[in-house]
Amino acid sequence: MPSFSLDALADAAESETQLSKKEFPLMPVGQAVDMGFTDDGVPLIDPRIFDSPEFFRNPYPYYRILRDHYPVFHDKLHNTYWVTRYEDITACYFDDEGFNTIPKGSSSGVLGNTQLELSGVEHRRRRNLYGQHLVGKSLENRIPAIERLAKEMIADWENLGEDVVQDKDGVRTVNIAAAFANEFPIRVVSEILGIPKDAQGQFFYWYNSMMAGLGGSATHQMGLEARQDLEDYISDIVEQRRVTPTYLYDNDGNPISKDIISKLCETKIDNDYLSTEEITSNIALVIGGGGETTRGAILNLWYLLLQHPDQFEAVMEDEANWDLAFHEMLRHSSSIGGQPRHNTHDVEMHGVKVPAGSLMEMVDFSANHDDRIFKDPETFNIFRDDLYAGKILRSGYNKDGKCSHMAFGVGPHLCPGAWISHQETVVGSKILAAHMKNPRINLDKMPKDIDGTSLAPIGLISVRDLWLDYDL
Ligand code: HEM
Repeated sequence: MPSFSLDALADAAESETQLSKKEFPLMPVGQAVDMGFTDDGVPLIDPRIFDSPEFFRNPYPYYRILRDHYPVFHDKLHNTYWVTRYEDITACYFDDEGFNTIPKGSSSGVLGNTQLELSGVEHRRRRNLYGQHLVGKSLENRIPAIERLAKEMIADWENLGEDVVQDKDGVRTVNIAAAFANEFPIRVVSEILGIPKDAQGQFFYWYNSMMAGLGGSATHQMGLEARQDLEDYISDIVEQRRVTPTYLYDNDGNPISKDIISKLCETKIDNDYLSTEEITSNIALVIGGGGETTRGAILNLWYLLLQHPDQFEAVMEDEANWDLAFHEMLRHSSSIGGQPRHNTHDVEMHGVKVPAGSLMEMVDFSANHDDRIFKDPETFNIFRDDLYAGKILRSGYNKDGKCSHMAFGVGPHLCPGAWISHQETVVGSKILAAHMKNPRINLDKMPKDIDGTSLAPIGLISVRDLWLDYDL
């Protein structure tokens, strides 16, 4: 079964290509395959659908069936309980002791011993180590670097090969995945960590290998090796920074603050400095958590906005609308589908008995499309009045008919990169928008849906390549 944790981002692409044991027809988006009905007329779910190409491209009608008829679905094929309603998922996320994150899966081998796998006090102590450097004033300090890196990458488009950028008759065609989104989040993270510039290319390779290592067993070894190389490299840096910390600078070259590695070097838990292994695990987690997710966010945002030209225009007319667009994109098509939890005690939810220690998959994608919370959930509308798009809150928001989306989770494990990924996506997109005159999707180069003409839906996996045209 595809799980939707960080582990599964790389795995998902692999699973997509594997043939399901049972073949299901590809349906028009929004319609479910007929899997039969009970005597009372309730649609049945065949769990083999979850492995099918149909589900990967068109999951929402199946989530609707689950939410409406099986809000806690015991999938015996994958030995998982799927939890699909918004209210149930938020309740489980807040109850970190009752529904804990241990064990998370193959990530521990590749990423190391991180707080992903901890709960309660231990989790809080670990999380604050670097989380504090990704919010508030620290984050504000990082914005000049984010802007500079975006501009540097775009300035380099001139030098990219024809497989990424093509100019013809006053129109440039560019794959903004390869030319921007794939690498931009990793460049930002390596900059704020304090990775020397000349090592950033190597860093991107380690990132890609570790992400691949989270997937199937074929690439797991590659991930482990990359993790070992990263650790060797970081341990030298850590030794140097323990003696001589290094700094981040503003655009005028003035030091703003120490970089995250330098700060981690001087951090203590129980009066002990963090070990090099602990620092490396934190770094691996921040890279693993922040790359693929933000990459997907940038590409999904542009894909959705350019398919809704009136909304794109609204964003171009008033820059404040980028924030609305960011949150609506994450509600409509986030880059992470959900998170696994294990229940500490026997529980009964919606009449389903779940024995202690079961794998319960919280399906954030489904929570974000729960029409008990969001009207007409399949529609992308940055001006919807039921989505909270204010400051991101760990406690979430559910007031006056507005709710937070679930793309960053909520509660103790709320994504600590939420604020910085917001800045990366919005600041990066503003800079892209300022550079590209009259941008539009290059329809010839993009994958099509089953009718052969409409653009392929985003489905469970974020847009991989996004070809745009703009006027030179
Ligand atoms: C749009 C981009 C992003 C999305 C959709 C996203 C989503 C998520 C989600 C849903 C979780 C919750 C896991 C849980 O409940 O168990 C999470 C955790 C995490 N994210 Fe993100 N994330 C994004 C960007 C980032 C960035 C940029 C970073 C780092 C700079 C990051 C680092 C992490 C880490 C370290 C965790 C583990 C937190 C914990 O267990 O306490 N994420 N992310």
